[in-house]
Amino acid sequence: MRVLLIGSGGREHALALGLAADPSVEVLFAAPGNPGIGTVAGMRDVVFTDPAAVAALAVECNADLVVVGPETPLVAGAADAVRAKGVPAFGPSAAAARLEGSKAFAKDVMTAAGVPTARAYSCADAESVGRALDDFGAPYVVKNDGLAAGKGVVVTEDRRVAEEHARECGQVVIEEYLAGPEVSLFVVTDGETAVPLLPAQDFKRVGDGDTGPNTGGMGAYAPLPWAPPGLVDEVMRDIVHPTLAELRRRGTPFAGLLYVGLAITAAGPRVIEFNARFGDPETQVVLALLETPLAGLLHAAATGELAAHPPLQWRAGAAVTVVVAAEGYPAKPRTGDVILGAEVSGVIHAGTVRRAADGALLSAGGRVLCCTATGSDLAAARDAAYELVRGIELADSHHRTDIAAAAVDGRITLPG
Ligand code: AMP
Ligand code: GLY
Repeated sequence: MRVLLIGSGGREHALALGLAADPSVEVLFAAPGNPGIGTVAGMRDVVFTDPAAVAALAVECNADLVVVGPETPLVAGAADAVRAKGVPAFGPSAAAARLEGSKAFAKDVMTAAGVPTARAYSCADAESVGRALDDFGAPYVVKNDGLAAGKGVVVTEDRRVAEEHARECGQVVIEEYLAGPEVSLFVVTDGETAVPLLPAQDFKRVGDGDTGPNTGGMGAYAPLPWAPPGLVDEVMRDIVHPTLAELRRRGTPFAGLLYVGLAITAAGPRVIEFNARFGDPETQVVLALLETPLAGLLHAAATGELAAHPPLQWRAGAAVTVVVAAEGYPAKPRTGDVILGAEVSGVIHAGTVRRAADGALLSAGGRVLCCTATGSDLAAARDAAYELVRGIELADSHHRTDIAAAAVDGRITLPG
């Protein structure tokens, strides 16, 4: 089949590698892509926030499947526009993508579906913000009620920092703090049938030991040696299926990738957030372990035929990815620095561009590269990922040194 992939980050490079490795894919196009993606896909130009442009490109490429990576085109309606041209699209409609696009909408769906999540208030003025902060106490969790690329959330012990963030955002969701290790579970769904991928863990804070501001994600690993047995079944039964049923009931079924961000609390798994697309950088590790051909799986979901798809096959062992970030990330990343050592298998490109004049590879975003490796166990995968990091030269870059370390050392404990 002919596949068009929309996006340009590390997640899309990982998706491109998976799609290109599927023997059923004859041609892979990517738009706008990045230099890493360009090694396995024909590059096209598109303003991906413009649904009509994405749909026109799908037709021009004569695509049998369009895979939409990021949330912004989904929330804008890219998948709807592609489907309206009669081309199968992997990605939810704009209406269903509100599960990610609006925190308040997601809370409303969860309440209606009886899905366990943090208690929350929607607040738009200082007075209701004050009441919500009083009710929950510290640590305070204040979320921008819109798309914020993982950076709209402040978790703080400092009341004034919480109030300040609420003031800057305007419309916020303030919620109860959930204590417990976090899990990212990806679910491929056609709206009815739902297939979970391997659970992964992401590292959201910029610094070692979970310090500093939230980022889009600084690293990830899969699978989770410490996860309670039965976790995935429990999440599918209590969270995923009720949520999908509620969206069907509302006439806006969710077909695509449902990303369930969870905290494993003393009372059981609780939803921290839903996203409407693959997570970044968890996708890099999950897909590194997926043996089942990716395009066939996503095509089955896009065409409502997931029930007939064979069970997923996984490689033994584990995968780890470590993000190499630009100086200044997440506040104000510096771009335009020369990168050396990135043209190596396992080095996934996120924010990179090629300089027209001489073909040099330059940094072009906050998260620049994702050094991704597999191994026979988590310790081996972790060592191999950091070996890739040591091979990268990028002036003043930074990365976390503790990705997957606590899991390797058996230091992750479940509360209760
Ligand atoms: P979100 O964008 O909603 O995923 O939030 C980003 C990060 O903030 C999460 O991955 C958590 O680390 C943290 N966070 C969000 N909501 C909560 C909560 N209710 N309790 C504890 N931590 C949270
Ligand atoms: N890794 C977090 C996210 O993709 O939202």
